Amino acid sequence: MKVLLINGSPRKAGCTFTALSEVAGEIAAQGIETEIFHIGNDPIRGCQACWRCRETKRCFYDDDPVNACLKLAAAADGLVVGSPVYFAGINSALGTLLDRMFYSGSSLLAYKPACGVVSCRRGGAASAFDRLNKYFTFCNMPVVSSQYWNAVHGNKPAEVHQDAEGLQVMRVLGRNMAWLVKSLNSADQAARPEKEMPLRTNFIR
Ligand SMILES: Cc1cc2nc3c(=O)[nH]c(=O)nc-3n(C[C@H](O)[C@H](O)[C@H](O)COP(=O)(O)O)c2cc1C
Repeated sequence: MKVLLINGSPRKAGCTFTALSEVAGEIAAQGIETEIFHIGNDPIRGCQACWRCRETKRCFYDDDPVNACLKLAAAADGLVVGSPVYFAGINSALGTLLDRMFYSGSSLLAYKPACGVVSCRRGGAASAFDRLNKYFTFCNMPVVSSQYWNAVHGNKPAEVHQDAEGLQVMRVLGRNMAWLVKSLNSADQAARPEKEMPLRTNFIR
């Protein structure tokens, strides 16, 4: 069993990484393998709405980390997505990666437990967290919760380390994720709900 954690920050070892490491530490303590995937600092193309992914279940554009990240997520048993808060939202490089990853790979990600984690200096955590949850709830992914909304506060890792409540929320989140991954792993796969083809009525009829 393995949980993939995506670090969407351009800062490889910044505050988001600090929060994700706390989640990963607890998941590992429960005997589950973890990997933190950093999306990197190179430009990530926006979704071109070409729909070619509908057939291939991967993005047509293969020159950035989207397909590599989707492959890792599809092979994992659970997913954690971490973002710094930028103007009360998720950072744009992560947003464009997630748009393409979740649009092309929704059927590969379905039924994997998932959660978002955000890091902010002061405000906007709730709206960024809400946006992350939209990806999971679009894809039939059970959303894992903690005992508060999944945010840490700080501009530098040392400040995040002082956010005792935020770090506790991360550890509880990791424990809850591990519990759900293990529970689903031992559950009867045949009992899984059947996925329905989404209707697309575009509000015109
Ligand atoms: C472009 C930009 C916009 C930001 N917007 C916000 C914001 O709206 N609210 C906030 O509290 N912090 C904001 N910050 C600060 C970061 O969210 C905060 O420092 C975060 O913990 C950085 O995480 P990282 O070290 O993983 O990149 C912003 C930072 C940048 C670079």
